[in-house]
Amino acid sequence: MAYTAKFKVWRGDADAGELQDYSVEVNEGEVVLDIIHRLQATQTPDLAVRWNCKAGKCGSCSAEINGRPRLLCMTRMSTFTEDEVITVTPMRTFPVVRDLVCDVSFNYTKAREIPSFTPPKDLQPGEYRMQQIDVERSQEFRKCIECFLCQDTCHVIRDHEENKEAFAGPRFLMRMAELEMHPLDTADRVQQAQDEHGLGYCNITKCCTEVCPEHIKITDNALIPMKERVADRKYDPIVWLGNKLFRR
Ligand code: SF4
Ligand code: F3S
Ligand code: FES
Repeated sequence: MAYTAKFKVWRGDADAGELQDYSVEVNEGEVVLDIIHRLQATQTPDLAVRWNCKAGKCGSCSAEINGRPRLLCMTRMSTFTEDEVITVTPMRTFPVVRDLVCDVSFNYTKAREIPSFTPPKDLQPGEYRMQQIDVERSQEFRKCIECFLCQDTCHVIRDHEENKEAFAGPRFLMRMAELEMHPLDTADRVQQAQDEHGLGYCNITKCCTEVCPEHIKITDNALIPMKERVADRKYDPIVWLGNKLFRR
C-alpha cells in the first residue's frame, strides 16, 4: 500500500546547507534511493545524488540515513515505520560537493599511497603454485565495493580532520592486510601499516565492520591480525629476527 513519508534531506554545498522537509510517496518494496529519485522527478530536479548500479555493488550511493552510514539503494523503506521522519545527509567524514554528493578523493589518495603487490623479482611465470588456503584467506577482503562507509564511520577521522594525513582508514589498512597475507608479496606491510598508515590509531571499536554492506569482518580478520603481527615483532625478538630472515 502506498503512503506518504516525511523526509528531511540535507541541501547545500561546501559553503552552507540545511535540512529541508519533504513529503514523498512511497510504494511497496521501495528503497530509500527510489524515494530520492521520486523527489528529483517530482519536487527537486536539482537534488544531487551519486548512484550507479542500484544493486549494492558499485559503492556510489553512500550516505547517512538517520545518522547511520548506509547505501541508499540497499536500505528498504520497510526498515522504517510509516510515521517516522527519515533524515538523509551526506557522509560526514568527507567534504560536501553538493547535497548528498561528497568529495571522496581522500580515499583515492590513500589508495595510491599503498605500494602495489610486490612479488619476488626473479620469480618466473608458472614457478609458483598458489595454495587454495592462501586464495581463501584474502577472498573476503576482495568483496569490498569501495563504498567508503567504513571510512566514513571510523571515529579516528570522522570528526578529526587532523588525523587524516596519518591514518589510511579501515578500507586501506584492510588492503594492506590482504597484501600481507599474500604468500608472494615481499614488501613489509606490517611495518608500513604501523609506521606510515596509522594502524596504531585504530582502537578496534569495530564500527567499520558494523556498517560494511558486504559484511566483511574488517576488524577481526584484517585489523586485529595486523595488530597481532605488530605486537609479535615488538615483544618477541625471535619472531622479529625470523621475519627479517625467513619472511617467505
Ligand atoms: Fe565499503 Fe566494506 Fe569496502 Fe569499507 S570494506 S569500503 S564498508 S565494502
Ligand atoms: Fe576505526 Fe574500525 Fe578501528 S572503526 S577504530 S578502523 S575497528
Ligand atoms: Fe550502486 Fe547503491 S547505487 S551501491
